Amino acid sequence: MGERLKGKVAIVAGAGSIGPGWGNGKATATVFAREGARVVCADRNLDAAQETAEIIKGEGGEAFAIRTDVTRPEDLAALVEATLKTYGRIDVLDNNVGIAEVGSVVDLPLETWERVFTVNLTGCFLAMKHVIPVMQRQFAESGQGGSIVNISSIASIRHTGVPYASYGASKAAMNQLTRTTAAQYAGEKIRVNAVLPGLMKTPMVEHSAGLAQSYAKGDVAAMWKARDAQVPMGHMGEGWDVAWAALFLASDEARYVTGLELVVDGGVTLQYGA
Ligand SMILES: NC(=O)c1ccc[n+]([C@@H]2O[C@H](COP(=O)([O-])OP(=O)(O)OC[C@H]3O[C@@H](n4cnc5c(N)ncnc54)[C@H](O)[C@@H]3O)[C@@H](O)[C@H]2O)c1
Repeated sequence: MGERLKGKVAIVAGAGSIGPGWGNGKATATVFAREGARVVCADRNLDAAQETAEIIKGEGGEAFAIRTDVTRPEDLAALVEATLKTYGRIDVLDNNVGIAEVGSVVDLPLETWERVFTVNLTGCFLAMKHVIPVMQRQFAESGQGGSIVNISSIASIRHTGVPYASYGASKAAMNQLTRTTAAQYAGEKIRVNAVLPGLMKTPMVEHSAGLAQSYAKGDVAAMWKARDAQVPMGHMGEGWDVAWAALFLASDEARYVTGLELVVDGGVTLQYGA
């Protein structure tokens, strides 16, 4: 067990994983706990959140799971209330919830466009809306605000080759919401940063029929190969890479860092034409 988040209480929204293996949120919740945080595993899918919480407790950490749909204000109010009742404070909010739908401007149905924005952007807005007042109170009482980490994507700054009209636009809006919120609350020691993962090998990607179709006519193994080949380092990243970046931003080691877009992509966005 490390101590980089010792004494801190962290909420990870989207702490489950949509399939077996390690998604970004599940890895992040686990890494936070390994570094001493008490972790609230929030997810629309309670079973998935419970699985993560059980892993943490099995390793000797502290966690509990709660069903939270980040698009529902009442769920976020209940999440904050349960966290305060159980652990008494909120130091870290990791907004990991995100859904990806493949489709260009012409192809994407309006309802899909709106659903992606509601989950990816409004969900992040609502989570911050409910958590920031708690961090403000903590600052007023003790001078300690908190750290918010929004999980964006390199699709917010590049066309990655996949027709991602709604996904990329919603994540780009998340980046700007991160910057403006960071500027607004810096004086109360509430830091807000974004992590921009690149091509990660996670259950989310494996189970996206649209992605496998877009990459390799539905062949998942061929998709993995194609994604590896897109990366200067020669391979996709893992949920752990996102988790370790989030850990830095969540910890006091990043106490002077706010409004950052931390790209974690093995060099993908360095390339011409990427
Ligand atoms: N995997 C990649 O290649 C990649 C690349 C860039 C960015 N990202 C971002 O990483 C984040 C998630 O990655 P992951 O691997 O953990 O994905 P994941 O799908 O395994 O986990 C996300 C979790 O969010 C939950 N969720 C979905 N909608 C929700 C809602 N409305 N309310 C609460 N929970 C909800 C799901 O149940 C799931 O457990 C997303 O924001 C995604 O956009 C992933």
